[in-house]
Amino acid sequence: MKQTLNREWLLGLALSAATVPTGSADLTTTISSAANWGTWEGFGVSLAWWAKAFGTRSDLADIFFSTEWTTYNGQSIPGMGLTIARYNAGACSWKTVNGSAMVVSPDMIASRQMESYWVDWFNSSPSSSSWSWSVDENQRNMLSMAKARGANIFELFSNSPPWWMCLNHNPSGSDDGSSDNLQSWNYDQHAVYLATIAEYAANNWGVSFQSVEAFNEPSSDWWNGKTGTQEGCHFNFSTQATVIGDLRTELNNRGLSSTLISASDENTYDLAISTWNNLGNTATSNVGRINVHGYQYSGGRRDTLYSLASGAGKRLWNSEYGESDATGESLVTNLLLDFRWLHPTAWVYWQAIDGSGWGLIDGDNDNVSLGAISQKYFALSQFTRHIRPGMRILDGGSDYTVAAYDSTAQKLVIVAANWGAAQYLNFELSDFSSPGVSGAVVPRWITQVGTGDQYSSHNDTYISGTKFWSYFPTGAVQTFEVSKVVLLLWTEDRYDPSGFRLDSDKG
Ligand SMILES: *[C@@H]1O[C@H](CO)[C@@H](O)[C@H](O)[C@H]1NC(C)=O
Ligand SMILES: *[C@@H]1O[C@H](CO)[C@@H](O)[C@H](O)[C@H]1NC(C)=O
Ligand SMILES: *[C@@H]1O[C@H](CO)[C@@H](O)[C@H](O)[C@H]1NC(C)=O
Ligand SMILES: *[C@@H]1O[C@H](CO)[C@@H](O)[C@H](O)[C@H]1NC(C)=O
Repeated sequence: MKQTLNREWLLGLALSAATVPTGSADLTTTISSAANWGTWEGFGVSLAWWAKAFGTRSDLADIFFSTEWTTYNGQSIPGMGLTIARYNAGACSWKTVNGSAMVVSPDMIASRQMESYWVDWFNSSPSSSSWSWSVDENQRNMLSMAKARGANIFELFSNSPPWWMCLNHNPSGSDDGSSDNLQSWNYDQHAVYLATIAEYAANNWGVSFQSVEAFNEPSSDWWNGKTGTQEGCHFNFSTQATVIGDLRTELNNRGLSSTLISASDENTYDLAISTWNNLGNTATSNVGRINVHGYQYSGGRRDTLYSLASGAGKRLWNSEYGESDATGESLVTNLLLDFRWLHPTAWVYWQAIDGSGWGLIDGDNDNVSLGAISQKYFALSQFTRHIRPGMRILDGGSDYTVAAYDSTAQKLVIVAANWGAAQYLNFELSDFSSPGVSGAVVPRWITQVGTGDQYSSHNDTYISGTKFWSYFPTGAVQTFEVSKVVLLLWTEDRYDPSGFRLDSDKG
């Protein structure tokens, strides 16, 4: 039933063949107009450590959260245009409370100690002296700068409950790493902590959190207070289920019934599947969105997790991804796998600034020093600057291609990578009712993983009939924007924007 009425008519507009470069295509992928893998919510980043260190730097806010070009170390950098920020509710404080004080792992890294707003257990009222709303100013400042530059989805997340809710008073985890560390009499207090911050942020920061996540990799067994380098806490399934119920109640009690609970930010796709299958119906009914981290890289059953999420009617985010491969190759590989098999509606990088290859900009959050922009920054920008919120994610037709469609602008975005020998990649658009205008330019941007091009742009590629092609060096990631592509949405009784009534569309 695909509409083809206007294809011949459009091809009649083809410009002279002289404007169309010739070339052989070594691989062809056909972009499917049929699949709908969700409406894109955005790309984002978690704040926490890097924003605690660099939260006063407006140039960094421009680089990560705007699409403007910013000068960094003498180089003009395209803004990444991230629209999601995950704000970390801290677990550390240094106040001695009735003779008790936080226990700190000997290996703790100071820049990863995020300060808690709730400093003792005497009073749950946010206006009481048990709360200190002035801490964590830098992370809050970056949150606010992100919003000012267009970020519009915010998540509140926790790595550990505040130290005084923990059995060993250590916010890096239990003494063996694999046991729960939240005191059972504080299950509800952890929920009160997060719900109170969400309410306070709405009333005082102008930030409305779309979602609240109470756990970070809760099934993992490395949250060990004796050796930990960061905040963390194990939660078993039944504890997670209890806290999710408490969190729903506490959010509702504060007028935040539309704030989603996201869960459970497990480390791998396979752990997320296991947790979802073990939380129980009451808890899963209170989960508004499934979050998962991408640390299984090329492994794991992304497809199974997607089936579970879509079967349950839940959206799915890759809420945390990171690695030490500064070349960008791992990131592009795994992001393409996510688009193809996980079908998340958002994708969130871990630390924008970090060392050892983890940062998009190399930097040291402890001595607050910045280094070079990573090649990974440009590789990720090939996606973030073009696949924008509101676009519909399509089936790119191959494991090296992602496609997204902007129905308002009638624009098709294609991002593809070539891991083989240098070759032409051919993009077939015959599945669309209008595959763009033959002869029209297809702007392209290119980054080479490792070294080479850094988001350089070219206007040298043209639609030829129903397809276009481009030369890809090994390790090249390219983005294309094709204008005047029409994707018919069969169920919505659409009209052809050129004015033709597409009656056959209604059959
Ligand atoms: C503080 O410690 C004292 C003495 O141990 C105890 O009597 C009191 O109940 C404690 N207060 C709170 C709020 O825990
Ligand atoms: C989960 O934790 C709770 C409370 O800490 C405990 O009572 C329960 O036995 C644990 N369940 C499992 C399966 O370990
Ligand atoms: C501070 O950061 C710089 C640059 O990353 C690094 O060379 C240096 O060793 C760091 N100094 C300390 C004390 O960590
Ligand atoms: C490509 O064409 C567009 C539209 O005319 C223009 O804005 C852009 O600067 C051009 N890019 C290059 C690299 O020439």
